[in-house]
Amino acid sequence: MSDFTSMAVPANVTPLRQRNIFAVASGKGGVGKTFFSITLSHALTKLGRKTLLFDGDLGLANVDIQLGLMPKRDLGQVIDGVVTLAGSTTRYPEGGFDIIAGRSGSGSLANLPPAKLSQLRNDLTDMARSYDNVVIDLGAGVDRNVRTFSGPAGVSLVVTTDEPTSITDAYAFLKLSYQANPLADLRVVVNMAQTRNEGNKTYETLLAACRKFLGKSPQLAGVIRRDMKVRESIKTQTPLLVRSPTSDAAQDIMALAQRLTVG
Ligand SMILES: Nc1ncnc2c1ncn2[C@@H]1O[C@H](COP(=O)(O)OP(=O)(O)OP(=O)(O)O)[C@@H](O)[C@H]1O
Ligand SMILES: [Mg+2]
Repeated sequence: MSDFTSMAVPANVTPLRQRNIFAVASGKGGVGKTFFSITLSHALTKLGRKTLLFDGDLGLANVDIQLGLMPKRDLGQVIDGVVTLAGSTTRYPEGGFDIIAGRSGSGSLANLPPAKLSQLRNDLTDMARSYDNVVIDLGAGVDRNVRTFSGPAGVSLVVTTDEPTSITDAYAFLKLSYQANPLADLRVVVNMAQTRNEGNKTYETLLAACRKFLGKSPQLAGVIRRDMKVRESIKTQTPLLVRSPTSDAAQDIMALAQRLTVG
């Protein structure tokens, strides 16, 4: 099922995009990227796809914390040369998917030298061939790390809420991404929407700005409703699709994942 287009590439060359890699980005922080990345990985797994979740937020890695995992291996050890990237995966049994955790404990990986960062990206692109899908949880904003890991993604999912600052920052992310690659497949996820209709309106606002100022029309990947079950699931470190599979947010993410797998 893997759908890939790139071969191994030298560290200094940007790899081609792989359609099976989904990068989850946002302009503003705290909009639900990590929660969404985890639940999307789970949803893809439930749809029968072998999935890897990569914690690409090198400054403030927290996929493992939201999942309540204490990984024996993490990206810190990959950077230190103790394990290979392929050897650094941790199985997440409740979700049935693999994760690559960021550095646990103290010490951020935010300032890796460019050569190490490129190597990591290329290794991840290679690894994506052994999976049906790879989901990358990116840090907020558009720094070098974010650009590096969104580079090989076939689809970038840009998360926003209905707050004006979040919409403005999502627009800035879309603008810079289109400037870097006019053919990029960028799609919008509206999270914490009061209703589906309100979520659609938020998307329309963003779309109108993209059309007017960029001449671009990013698709809507989906609307995820605000749901108190999300907070409960994060607090109890139990996956939403296990704890509350019929909740609004769970249904919205399942439907979104289904649409993603058909193109
Ligand atoms: N659909 C939702 N309904 C209700 N609450 C939500 C929803 N999505 C996310 N949240 C809340 O938003 C909080 C922040 O989510 P999360 O940590 O995933 O954001 P983030 O974008 O990864 O943040 P950062 O930019 O710091 O990495 C969560 O703790 C959760 O309580
Ligand atoms: Mg996060």
